[in-house]
Amino acid sequence: MEFDLTQLPSQDRYRLLTNFVGPRPIALVTTRTASGRDNGAPMSFFNVFSHDPAILALGIQPRLDGREKDTMANIRRTGQFTVNMVDMALSRTMLVCGLGVDTEVDELHLAGEIVAAGAQVDCSWLPASPCAMECRVDRLIEYPRRVIVLGEVVHMHVRADCLDAQGRYVDADRYHPIARLHADNYVVADQQFELKPPALAELVR
Ligand SMILES: Cc1cc2nc3c(=O)[nH]c(=O)nc-3n(C[C@H](O)[C@H](O)[C@H](O)COP(=O)(O)O)c2cc1C
Repeated sequence: MEFDLTQLPSQDRYRLLTNFVGPRPIALVTTRTASGRDNGAPMSFFNVFSHDPAILALGIQPRLDGREKDTMANIRRTGQFTVNMVDMALSRTMLVCGLGVDTEVDELHLAGEIVAAGAQVDCSWLPASPCAMECRVDRLIEYPRRVIVLGEVVHMHVRADCLDAQGRYVDADRYHPIARLHADNYVVADQQFELKPPALAELVR
């Protein structure tokens, strides 16, 4: 089947793109509200795009009623946010944070999550997360119904058990992030395998 995305209604574009571009890693984004509370929200329009500089991206759309999400408003106001990677143990917190609650409700508190003060940004991070990345806004790319946030990662908190003994590489037996597929479907990265490229010499013989 062929689809002309320039002619499709927005919801159909969303359905097709999110159904096929996956699994998408999930950023549990923590920010600071104007009144000083913690705010948490999961974002699966998320990935890392560069290490030099260290840039990751979030895609944030408005609420259905057109109002800006709290995460976006907080990022605009403070220029800071933290991305907490999500594993199965954090999946309930992720879902609680995805509920559309009032601005003054601290979703992390609602989920019973323990938080810690940021090292370089004024956003709390989750010690339960395998890895939390403190970010400063690099730039905002504005579309009528979407903002793409580019953030520079300035600090990483990595849970010690997720690293090998030398503290250099991830321990694939311990770090099992979950990622979003379509709708309410997720996958956990617990069946990893190595793929080695074939030798070029064998192909061109
Ligand atoms: C797994 C998951 C992924 C999500 N990904 C996004 C996303 O990439 N962009 C977005 O705008 N909303 C996304 N949402 C919806 C927001 O998390 C949700 O609207 C949340 O209530 C926003 O909270 P806030 O107003 O505190 O920012 C996602 C929700 C879930 C459960």
